[in-house]
Amino acid sequence: MAVSKKIVPSETRLFKPLKLGNVELQHRVVMAPLTRYRNDSDHVATPMMIKHYGDRASTPGTLIISEATGVSHTDEGDRHLPGFVSDKQVEAWSKVIDAVHARGSFFFQQIWGIGRAASSSYVKERGLKYRSSSSVPMSAEHEAPDAMTEEEIQEEIQAFVDTAKRVVAAGGDGIEIHSAHGYLLDQFLSADINQRTDQWGGSIENRSRLTLTVVKRVIDAIGAERVAIRFSPFASFQGSEKEDYLELYTYIINELKGMNANLAYISLVEPAGDPGALLMDSEAANMDKSLDFILELWDNRSPVMVAGAYKPETAALALEQHYQKWDVVIAFGRLFLANPDLVYRIKNGLELNNYVRPTFYLTDTDKGYNDYPFSDEFNKAHPEVFAAEA
Ligand code: PHB
Repeated sequence: MAVSKKIVPSETRLFKPLKLGNVELQHRVVMAPLTRYRNDSDHVATPMMIKHYGDRASTPGTLIISEATGVSHTDEGDRHLPGFVSDKQVEAWSKVIDAVHARGSFFFQQIWGIGRAASSSYVKERGLKYRSSSSVPMSAEHEAPDAMTEEEIQEEIQAFVDTAKRVVAAGGDGIEIHSAHGYLLDQFLSADINQRTDQWGGSIENRSRLTLTVVKRVIDAIGAERVAIRFSPFASFQGSEKEDYLELYTYIINELKGMNANLAYISLVEPAGDPGALLMDSEAANMDKSLDFILELWDNRSPVMVAGAYKPETAALALEQHYQKWDVVIAFGRLFLANPDLVYRIKNGLELNNYVRPTFYLTDTDKGYNDYPFSDEFNKAHPEVFAAEA
C-alpha cells in the first residue's frame, strides 16, 4: 500500500515570500475579511478592534484585510457595522492600521456598498434609502428596495473613490473592492437581481459596468498597486447565484486585463467558501466547480487570493499541487479569528484553537473576539509583543 507523505506546511510555498502590490509578504497566509460587529453605535472602530487586528498581525510580513467597511453612511447598513467616511471613523481606523504596521505587517481595507443586504428598518430609521440595482427583494420576508437612480449610482462611484483616498491617507496599504456575496456591486452583476434596462443592466457588459467603473476610477485615484477586487463566482448567499458565471467572469477578467494596470491581487471565493453554507456549518453547493478558468485567464498578472474552509495542510497542498503554476495566497477566516498567532502556529506545527461560532457576532464585548489565546510558544518567543501593550 502506498504510504502518503504527510505535508509539512512550513516547508511548502505557503511560507515563500511574495510581492503583492507595494508590499513584500513574508508568507502566503492572509487574514480574510470578517464582519464582526465590534464597531460602536456611530459605526466607529473601537479600541478592542485595534487589539484584535494588531494581535493577528503579530508575525511580520502578514497581510491583514479588514472587515467590509461602508463607503458612505448609507452603506454602513446595520448597527455596529463600520464606515470609513467621517473624520472620527478615519481616525479610529488609522489607529488599527498603525497597530498592524507596528508589527511589520500590512493592511488592506475591504470597502463595500451594501445595498439590499442592509437592514431596511435601520437604514430608514436613519433617514437613508434602502436600495439596490433593482426593486427586487432578497426573499419573501424582505422589503423591496428602491432601484438606484443614475445620480445615486454616480454618487456611489464617487464614494468608492473618496473612501479609497481616505484609506491611503490614513496609512492603509491598499483597498479591496467587495464585488461578491450579494452585496451592492454583486447586486448589479447578478441577472436575477439586476433587472435594469439602462446602461447598468441587461447584458453582461451592462451588469459589469458598475464594478468595472469603480475599479477603473479607484485605480485612477490611488494607483493599481493599491487596488484589489473580490468575486464569489459560485456563491448563492443572499440571492447572488449566477447561472452565467463562466461568461460573466470571463468578460470581467478580460476587461480588467484590458485596463493594463496590475491590480495588487484578485480575491476569489472557492465553492466551499459560500457564506450561506459557512453560516450554517453545512455543505456548500457547486463543489464540483473550479476557479481555474479565472486563474488561467489572469495568468499571474498579479497574485490571486483564494478562500474557503482551508486548513493549514489543505492550503499547503493547494499551493504545491493544484495552484502550483500560479502565485496564490490563501485567506483564512475562522482560523484567524480563533488564533491571533495563526501564522506562528502554522509555521511551527502547533495545535490550533477552535473557533466558537455563537460568539462570532456579539456586540459591545471582547468575548469571542480578543479572548482567544496566543500559544505559550509564541509568548515565550516574543515577550516584546506583550511588553508593548503593558
Ligand atoms: C456577513 O456579514 O455575513 C458577510 C459579510 C461579507 C461577506 C460575507 C458575509 O463577504
